[in-house]
Amino acid sequence: MEKKKILKFSNVTATYANGCGIFDISFELNSSDMVFLMGPTGSGKSTLLKTIYKELDIDSGTVFVDNKDISKFNKNKTSLLRRDIGVIFQDFKLLNDRTVWENISLPLKIAQIGKNEISSKTSELIEAVGLAGKEKSLPEQLSGGEKQRVAIARAMVKEPKILLADEPTGNLDPNISMEILELLEMATDFGTCVIMCTHNYPLIKYKKREFIELHNGRVRI
Ligand SMILES: Nc1ncnc2c1ncn2[C@@H]1O[C@H](COP(=O)(O)OP(=O)(O)OP(=O)(O)O)[C@@H](O)[C@H]1O
Ligand SMILES: [Mg+2]
Repeated sequence: MEKKKILKFSNVTATYANGCGIFDISFELNSSDMVFLMGPTGSGKSTLLKTIYKELDIDSGTVFVDNKDISKFNKNKTSLLRRDIGVIFQDFKLLNDRTVWENISLPLKIAQIGKNEISSKTSELIEAVGLAGKEKSLPEQLSGGEKQRVAIARAMVKEPKILLADEPTGNLDPNISMEILELLEMATDFGTCVIMCTHNYPLIKYKKREFIELHNGRVRI
């Protein structure tokens, strides 16, 4: 698959009202890249992800997604942008009154994909993340690791251009963490660019992948 520039940060600063945030961040990523975003708690990892799906507006610099300057996006374009981005949140954000099947197929419904395609894609992903048999379970009936898999399947189901995974292996045992990492790597096979935040250096040190290290909101040099 041909590589394509998918994300470009140039001197990006983004802050909250209290002055915390990320400062002067620059990097570039291509389709099918996988990069680990490392750094201690409070260093700005989740904040950086928020600027990509525009939950937080940047103060200065530029963020280009797929060669488009997203700071110029209005509400409409922002919701289209979000369809191209899958997010696995630190706290999962599953819909607790919906089943595993409903949680995972929701992004496809929102994108108004046809029923048959929703059905085949959803079962494919449920199978891939090892949740076959749990389709009708509600999130409260799942273990932490299983919830994590639902969140991953939901983020991957629409084959997004960018997949943001915020500490997806937090609180999981080492074997499961490795499996989760392999699932995320699988997403790069269909061209998705994956950014994964993690504190878990032992998990990723054998992976020959790039990483970006943040410290007090800045890329550590
Ligand atoms: N909504 C907010 N308003 C004000 N400050 C915030 C907000 N969210 C985060 N911060 C601050 O911004 C800094 C970066 O936070 P961020 O959540 O990006 O860290 P993190 O690297 O993801 O940490 P962790 O590993 O604990 O998830 C921290 O100092 C935090 O207190
Ligand atoms: Mg965080």
